[in-house]
Amino acid sequence: MFLKKDSRGYYKLFEWQDGKQRYVKYIGKDPSSFLKDIEKGKELLEKLKDYPDLALKGGQAALTEHKRRKTGKVKVIEQKYRTIVIDPPWPMEKIVRQVRPNQFDFDYPVMSIEEIKTYSLPVNPDGCHVYLWTTQKFLPVAFDVFEAWGVKYECLMTWVKNVGFTPFSWMYSTEHCLFGRVGNLPLLKLGKRLDFSAKVREHSRKPNEFYTLVAEVSPEPRIDIFSREKHEGYDQDGNEPDKFTVK
Ligand SMILES: C[S@@+](CC[C@H](N)C(=O)[O-])C[C@H]1O[C@@H](n2cnc3c(N)ncnc32)[C@H](O)[C@@H]1O
Repeated sequence: MFLKKDSRGYYKLFEWQDGKQRYVKYIGKDPSSFLKDIEKGKELLEKLKDYPDLALKGGQAALTEHKRRKTGKVKVIEQKYRTIVIDPPWPMEKIVRQVRPNQFDFDYPVMSIEEIKTYSLPVNPDGCHVYLWTTQKFLPVAFDVFEAWGVKYECLMTWVKNVGFTPFSWMYSTEHCLFGRVGNLPLLKLGKRLDFSAKVREHSRKPNEFYTLVAEVSPEPRIDIFSREKHEGYDQDGNEPDKFTVK
């Protein structure tokens, strides 16, 4: 392909086909953004050679994910799972820090929304159940994250807590987890309730009752991503897998 400038100074894109020049599209007076796109396209194709699965993501998302993999910031999980529990380090609300200034457990590295959206979920493409924990603030974003991951939203689980905190508004006494599917993998057990009650422990630590419930409904192999303790029947991934593991 090549650019040609016409007598009025407008650029047009042509390609060679069967020895003849064929008009492809109009570019305009300033070809710089078009040329930048071409460079980006070339860069992308080069990078996708190493990671063919990124081709499904396309564009900027693929480039961001590629960069993260190259820098080793997040390791890629090779095995594919039927059940994924994922509790991302959402870019946490400032207000939580103010209301809970002494909660030291809060201090873990967080990820940007873009990083969460481009995270490579180790789904079994033939069918997978995905459980995504979110916070009150990031609940709407969590639906976009499901869409970016190609997960079909189905329903919302609610953890009813014994205590809550009051960030100058309602008492936040619940926490929520989206359930969705890739494909149509059936549930092992039908009719389980979406709400469950359990005690609050350390900041962000999810209750054992949740893991038991998920194991009743969703098949192995299972993985708990961004995990901080070992749960029976789940593989783990995260940078502090044994923070709460009882040895
Ligand atoms: C919301 S907490 C998970 C809480 C956990 N589900 C529990 O019940 O205790 C998020 C975790 O992700 C970890 N994390 C943050 N960035 C990470 C990264 N790039 N790679 C791996 N783990 C990361 C944090 O250190 C933290 O342990």
